[in-house]
Amino acid sequence: AELNLQEIHDILVEVAHEAGRMIISANPQDIEQGEKINSVDIVTECDKAVETLVSTRLRSKFPSYAFIGEETYRPGQQLTDTPTFIVDPIDGTTNFVHGFPEACISLGFAAGRVPTVGVVYNPYLDKLYTAIRGKGAYLTHGAACGLEGGKGRVSKLPLVEKAPPLGRLDSCLVAVEWGSSREDQNYEIKTEVFKKLCAGKGSGGAMVHSLRSMGSAALNICAVAAGQLDMYWEGGCWAWDVCAGWCILAEAGGIMASGNPGGWEPEIDSRKYLAVRGAPSGQKELVKEMWEVMGDRKMD
Ligand code: IPD
Repeated sequence: AELNLQEIHDILVEVAHEAGRMIISANPQDIEQGEKINSVDIVTECDKAVETLVSTRLRSKFPSYAFIGEETYRPGQQLTDTPTFIVDPIDGTTNFVHGFPEACISLGFAAGRVPTVGVVYNPYLDKLYTAIRGKGAYLTHGAACGLEGGKGRVSKLPLVEKAPPLGRLDSCLVAVEWGSSREDQNYEIKTEVFKKLCAGKGSGGAMVHSLRSMGSAALNICAVAAGQLDMYWEGGCWAWDVCAGWCILAEAGGIMASGNPGGWEPEIDSRKYLAVRGAPSGQKELVKEMWEVMGDRKMD
């Protein structure tokens, strides 16, 4: 049967607002103990409650589609060609726990393993990023606050009408994340690359304008889609952190390459990503320059 992408989009938007209200009114100190890898890999009662809400709603409405969610994922669960909801109930849990207002619900939908609908909602700032494949990407600001009679102020992404050409790395604002694994080989590579990005010189190094870490992969990607960041590089996050944002990025003219050197067409679940904003030129050159900074080291 043909997929009704508009219907899927509309329901995801509805669920995102409902989840947003839950997040805003939850107690972020209800932290779950155990399970996760270390003391910085946090999960709260609210992450679980939001995932239950979302999966119940989506499974009852679309019983034949698959569902992958951060809190119910078990190793071995595979993303297939089946239409699949890929959901992070709270992306930016650490921010949520600390009250730092950059957390969101990330609702992705993939068909044939391609990000096809994306809805990312930051309830603190009432910012809703949305896209349907082939239909453009949008930011709706202030709908829950009642702006524009409750419809919110809608802007097409990227936010500037004509995205400027991309320069070399040394003119870029770049997002990176520390992630929650703090002692493995990937962590070594990341911190080395951060250093090279901040103060490197010439080939294999750069001095970027600065680095940013929003604390949420989805919101980093949305900021790249909006054109507020030039690039976002990460190894270690998961399909549910990126699926929704990826659709939004692609519809805003951005590209997603692999976070490891050489991969132009990364899989959604490859866990290594490099997002570059929309631009009339310079996207591929920037990806190559970033890979050069990494040298021949690859993240697992
Ligand atoms: C995390 C955030 C963070 C990224 C981590 C993710 P969570 O997601 O997206 O920015 O660096 O890799 O796990 O745990 O807050 O859903």
